[in-house]
Amino acid sequence: MGDFFLWAHRGASRQAPENTLAAFVLAEEQGADGIELDVHLSRDGVPVVIHDETLERTTDGHGPVSKRSAVELRRLDAGGWFAPAYRGEPIPTLEAVLDWAGDRLRLNIEIKSAAAGRAVLELLRSRPDCRVLVSSFDHRLLARLREMAADLPLGFLSESRLWRGGLRRAITAGAESFNPREDRISPAMLSACQSAGLAVYPWTVDDPKRLLFLARRGVSGLFTNDPSGARRALAGSRVGG
Ligand code: G3P
Ligand code: MG
Repeated sequence: MGDFFLWAHRGASRQAPENTLAAFVLAEEQGADGIELDVHLSRDGVPVVIHDETLERTTDGHGPVSKRSAVELRRLDAGGWFAPAYRGEPIPTLEAVLDWAGDRLRLNIEIKSAAAGRAVLELLRSRPDCRVLVSSFDHRLLARLREMAADLPLGFLSESRLWRGGLRRAITAGAESFNPREDRISPAMLSACQSAGLAVYPWTVDDPKRLLFLARRGVSGLFTNDPSGARRALAGSRVGG
């Protein structure tokens, strides 16, 4: 269990504004092995790091992300909604986060809009040292990415009770992992993934008891908003060291 993998979900998003560099820096300080982030495409084709399709919840902007240029997005405040100390924290571009992470931290790039797929791939080709796992709920997009990039590590996201279809598509695409909603995990799902040689990374787990339960069940790692709490839980147990 020594290689149990902790993904910081949107960065250390319990203590810093999600999907900002501040949250990513904190996640690294708190001992995350990797960082999950969400990607949309700006109007002018730049992959940007933000969860929602629209700007309202996590920025002082309005309307769809896809209607703003990267320069316009850059001017928005993506931190002030969370706490005054983070006021002025920008929406990062994916390029900036890749450059920040280098080969130190693995990034899980969750593609939220299919339109971003090709641009993400081009960016990754220009950053061969970066360690990534590309994931999406859009399994057709992942299959297309596989056709364009034979070696790209892929993670198939699933939140449906009907997980077997998603798992089949993951196996067909030669995915690295199956990433289920954590309350969908079952012994049948775990054993099907294990038989197929897929890692299992459930999301999103902040409760230490649940984390240890899942770790003992044999998941390969998980997504948490609270990497420091997760590290403490693992350190106080026999799993995950
Ligand atoms: O990738 C795991 C998780 O991030 C999927 O859901 O809505 O938090 O992007 P969401
Ligand atoms: Mg996500």
